[in-house]
Amino acid sequence: MHLLEVEALSKSYRQIGGESTLAIGEISFQVEKGEFVSLVGPSGCGKTTLLMCIAGLIPASSGMVKVNGAGISGPPKNLVLVFQEYNRSLFAWRSVLGNVLFGLEVRGKLSREAEDRARHLIGLVGLEGFERHYPWELSGGMQQRVAIARALAYGPEVLLMDEPFGSVDALTRLELEDTLLKLWQELKTTILFVTHDIEEAIYLSDRICLLSRRPSRVVRGIEIRLERPRNQLTTRADRRFVELRNDIYRQISDQAVK
Ligand SMILES: Nc1ncnc2c1ncn2[C@@H]1O[C@H](COP(=O)(O)OP(=O)(O)OP(=O)(O)O)[C@@H](O)[C@H]1O
Ligand SMILES: [Mg+2]
Repeated sequence: MHLLEVEALSKSYRQIGGESTLAIGEISFQVEKGEFVSLVGPSGCGKTTLLMCIAGLIPASSGMVKVNGAGISGPPKNLVLVFQEYNRSLFAWRSVLGNVLFGLEVRGKLSREAEDRARHLIGLVGLEGFERHYPWELSGGMQQRVAIARALAYGPEVLLMDEPFGSVDALTRLELEDTLLKLWQELKTTILFVTHDIEEAIYLSDRICLLSRRPSRVVRGIEIRLERPRNQLTTRADRRFVELRNDIYRQISDQAVK
């Protein structure tokens, strides 16, 4: 049984006036327990829509999403979504610790252990010493670290991430990629990650699902067999990394002119 299964999912949005936009043509793929899978596709192809359907936040028009073999009909407890806009997703009136504890509070788990776990997660994302700071006192990259720690506090089986590093500078982005890989390896979470950035997808993933333009479908699944732990310098300089990047880039630009 697959941990996550997307089966012939399609989604159209009805516009004012009755016309509808077909965002997702028909998408099927599976994610296994412990895998790191990235969805890469052109802007506007329906990546956010797909994650929202998987998170049970909007209904699919047809097809279904299964978690541990069971079809979902609303937000499943064991899935958590991290958005790109960290500044809109954190609670401005809560400290770093308060934000991370929120995930445990809603599960009714406020205890000494909950606070220890929150502090442990804050340490894992590299924010030890900032527990009492408020979001507006932190840089963008630090805020996104808080959002990741808060998402992990729910103890999700699957972490869904929608271009989580799209709004930070290039160096911070590389640091956040390494932090995420460390967390993934330590907590053994399954991650479904959306990005525009082909190199980021190769660097992070076990497998990439390449999506077509809207209405999107899966063009190709690509296994990334680069050794772990990965390294920003050596992995990115590896001949296989460069070949994969060129190959994926070629496939995306071929589609763009069709
Ligand atoms: N709430 C909505 N109502 C109507 N149409 C929508 C809605 N949300 C998205 N769309 C349309 O669905 C299509 C896919 O949008 P979506 O945001 O899922 O794409 P995306 O791949 O995440 O884009 P980006 O790469 O820019 O983040 C677009 O044509 C968009 O205009
Ligand atoms: Mg999007």
